[in-house]
Amino acid sequence: MAGTELEQQTTVLTRVAVNGTPHALSLDPRSSLLDVLREQLGLTGAKKGCDHGQCGACTVHVNGRRVVSCMTFAVQTDGCEVLTVEGLSARDGPLHPMQQAFIDHDALQCGYCTPGQIMAAIACVHEGHANSPHQIREYMSGNLCRCGAYVGIVEAIEQAALQLTER
Ligand code: FES
Ligand code: FES
Repeated sequence: MAGTELEQQTTVLTRVAVNGTPHALSLDPRSSLLDVLREQLGLTGAKKGCDHGQCGACTVHVNGRRVVSCMTFAVQTDGCEVLTVEGLSARDGPLHPMQQAFIDHDALQCGYCTPGQIMAAIACVHEGHANSPHQIREYMSGNLCRCGAYVGIVEAIEQAALQLTER
């Protein structure tokens, strides 16, 4: 009983829309957004690389802005809209132009960094930071790829940027 009371005292109701689906979650205020996405909502696209804000593998969007979800308290997303890689395209629908561009340019090897790369890449374009290969490299520098697929990643972003900015 004491444990239950303690639990009730230390959880925080957080209302958040994830990929368009509303959730009302009772959260430990210390939980990272990454852990809540992966362990409570079953959205395992965002990856845990370093868990210290240094690799970008966990990148998602909160209210349209990219964040490293390992360094974001889940309770901070109360009232927000979160978009993960799973929300970019319907399961049987066409891929998002950035997803397709990563395939077209062979911009991955093991794929572990790829969901974070794609979410960061979309934000990079929307921020207006994809105007040259140099600028893309600079604004994607927070997303590491241990397989060294950087050449393909930059090419993919250049391709998708043309389509996304035409819209
Ligand atoms: S897991 Fe979040 S930045 Fe590395
Ligand atoms: S594709 Fe393997 S870490 Fe980037």
